[in-house]
Amino acid sequence: MRSRISKAIFPVAGLGTRFLPATKSVPKEIMTLVDRPLIQYAIDEARAAGIKEFIFVTSRGKSALEDYFDSAPQLEQELKRKGKDDLLEILRSTTMDSGAIAYIRQQKPMGLGHAVWCARRLIGDEPFAVILPDDVIAAEKPCLQQMVEAHAEVGGNMVAAMEVPTAKAASYGLLDVAEDMGALVRMRGMVEKPQPEDAPSNLAAIGRYILTPSIMRNLNRIKSGAGGEIQLTDAIAEEVRRSDNVYGYRFRGQRFDCGSKAGFLQATVAFGLARDDLCEEFGEYLRDMMAIPAAAQ
Ligand code: UTP
Repeated sequence: MRSRISKAIFPVAGLGTRFLPATKSVPKEIMTLVDRPLIQYAIDEARAAGIKEFIFVTSRGKSALEDYFDSAPQLEQELKRKGKDDLLEILRSTTMDSGAIAYIRQQKPMGLGHAVWCARRLIGDEPFAVILPDDVIAAEKPCLQQMVEAHAEVGGNMVAAMEVPTAKAASYGLLDVAEDMGALVRMRGMVEKPQPEDAPSNLAAIGRYILTPSIMRNLNRIKSGAGGEIQLTDAIAEEVRRSDNVYGYRFRGQRFDCGSKAGFLQATVAFGLARDDLCEEFGEYLRDMMAIPAAAQ
């Protein structure tokens, strides 16, 4: 039997400059879609996939994240006193079991690969998941759960993948596909942010990964190499050169790039409309808004 995936790394040490000035004092991961911070969506997805240990790679200025997962005795007492059981229940879903959560600091934002590498001692010698909380995925079955199930069949390393327009290739890590098996593709390479004419396919990696400890060893070598950002893509590309079980997984669901303003707004609309308590009023507002230009014509 293949080993269960019980640990996940959440790299949250980036500067989030696209959301300045908000991110001057608020971590990007605490920004909310409707009423839940991005990080809560990521944690819920990890829990659904069977993750038991949550490793955050943080940086200076991210202490709001630690507070978010801590218990809030005063608030709980007040809600209890007022008999607000529904809110208490919501609050409880944010606290983590003792010892289930760990924080590591990335001292300089040296790239996603470096952030993942910072967690190497907590990962040890087992496969692990990586979740980027700014990629939010709406799906009937949560994306990481789909991947864990596929991984139980094939093992190896796996990245979540989706088709993107060729013109947008320069914003993604793109997969070079050796064999297309439907939901799964076997990779023969991976290129970070190529020019459209150099894109090996239009299948892009997005922020969910299941990786083996050998990726950490690859990062180790890359770390002692050239300066600049250390890309996770390079460590995966190195793994492809050595083994033939590195896969892309076409997940079922809709991904929102909440690291960008347009993506964040789209997600806000989609998640707002998906809420029973909001869809009527919010939907009516959107319909009215859409009707204004039509009426003007
Ligand atoms: P992004 O590329 O979105 O960078 O990182 P960013 O700093 O968060 O945002 P911008 O581009 O300045 O607006 C993708 C993910 O990788 C993490 C980020 O926190 C985010 O979850 N990351 C990136 C790190 O943890 N460390 C890094 O050095 C870089």
